Amino acid sequence: MKIIDQSLLHILTSWQQELESVTTQQALEALRIAYLGRSGRINELMAQLKTLPLEEKRAFGPQVQELQQIITQSLSLKQNELTRQILEKELSTKKHFDVTAYNPSSLEKPSGSLHPYTHLIERIEDIFTSMGFSYAQGPEVETEWYNFEALNIPADHPARDMQDTFWLTTPGLLLRTHTSSVQIHTMKNQQPPLSIFTPGRVFRHEATDATHDFMFMQCEGLLIDKNISLTHLCSLLKVFMRTLFEKNDLSIRLRPSYFPFVEPGLEVDISCIFCKTGCALCKKTQWIEMGGSGLVHPATLKACGIDPTIYSGCAWGIGIERLAMLLYGINDIRLFHSGKIEFLKQF
Ligand code: PHE
Repeated sequence: MKIIDQSLLHILTSWQQELESVTTQQALEALRIAYLGRSGRINELMAQLKTLPLEEKRAFGPQVQELQQIITQSLSLKQNELTRQILEKELSTKKHFDVTAYNPSSLEKPSGSLHPYTHLIERIEDIFTSMGFSYAQGPEVETEWYNFEALNIPADHPARDMQDTFWLTTPGLLLRTHTSSVQIHTMKNQQPPLSIFTPGRVFRHEATDATHDFMFMQCEGLLIDKNISLTHLCSLLKVFMRTLFEKNDLSIRLRPSYFPFVEPGLEVDISCIFCKTGCALCKKTQWIEMGGSGLVHPATLKACGIDPTIYSGCAWGIGIERLAMLLYGINDIRLFHSGKIEFLKQF
C-alpha cells in the first residue's frame, strides 16, 4: 500500500474496522453511502483536493484514487461474502428438502377430466361403428316439420302431449324433443341403404326429479335397407347392450308401445344387470326400461322421399343418462348438468 498521508490512512483503517463489524446487507449499504456516497468521505477528500496547490494535488490525487479503489474492492468482496452467508443459512434450513415430494403449487392447479357423457358416447361410437353404422348429427333448434310432422305427428296429434315442448318465439321453431328428427335429416339427404347412430341433446318442458330432467341425451339408431325386419332390430339392440354392459347373458325384451313414426312401436327393456330375482333398481321386475324402438312407419319413409314398397327400416332411441347411471352407478340425473367438480372428478 502506497498511501502515505496520515488522514488517508486514518480513513482507510476506520473503513476496515467498520467493514469488519458489518453483518447485514443494510449495514453494508449504509457504510457504502458513508464512504462512497455523494457526500461521503471520499467525495469530501475530492473537494479538498481541488483547493490544494498543484504540487500537492499531484502527490495527493493518486492516493485518494487508490483509497477509493481499495474501498470499492473490499466492499464488493464483503458483498459476496454476505450473499454466500445468506445462501448457506438458507441451505442449512432446507437440509431435509425432498425433491420427490409434492410441489404444493402443482396441487393448486385444478386439472380437468372428461364428462361421463364423453366417456359413454365414445364407447357407444366404438360399438356402432364396429357394426358398420356412421355417426350423424342434427340441429338442436329444430323446425316443427322435422321434429313432429315428418315423423307422422301432425299438429293435432295427441302424441305431441307425450313430449312437452319448448317452443321458441319464432313460430314453427322449437328445441328438439328427441333425436328422431335426425332420422328425417338423414333420410332426406341419403338414399338407402343407410345406417346411422346419432347421440345428442334433447329438451322437454318437464318437472325435474332424480330420474327426469328438462335436458337430457338420447342416442338414436336407424337402419334402412330392403327387407329390414324386427329380427334386425332385436339382434342389433342385443349386440349393442351386451357389448356395452360386457354381459353375454343379457336379454332384450320388446314390449308393444306406440310412437307414431314406427309401426309396430316397441319399448326396449334389458334384463336387470344387477340381479336375477328382482331388486330395488328393477323394482322387483327383473327388467329395466331403456327406450323406444320400432319399424319405421311407411308415412315417415314417404315424407323423406323413400319408397316404402321397396325399403323398410328399424329405429330406436335410448336414453344416454339411463345407460350412464347404470354403468357408473349414478343415482340422480340432475348431476349430469350440475357442474359439480366433485361429481365430474370421478370420471
Ligand atoms: N323418439 C322416441 C322418444 O323420444 C323414441 C323412439 C326412437 C321410439 C325411435 C321409436 C323409434 O320417446
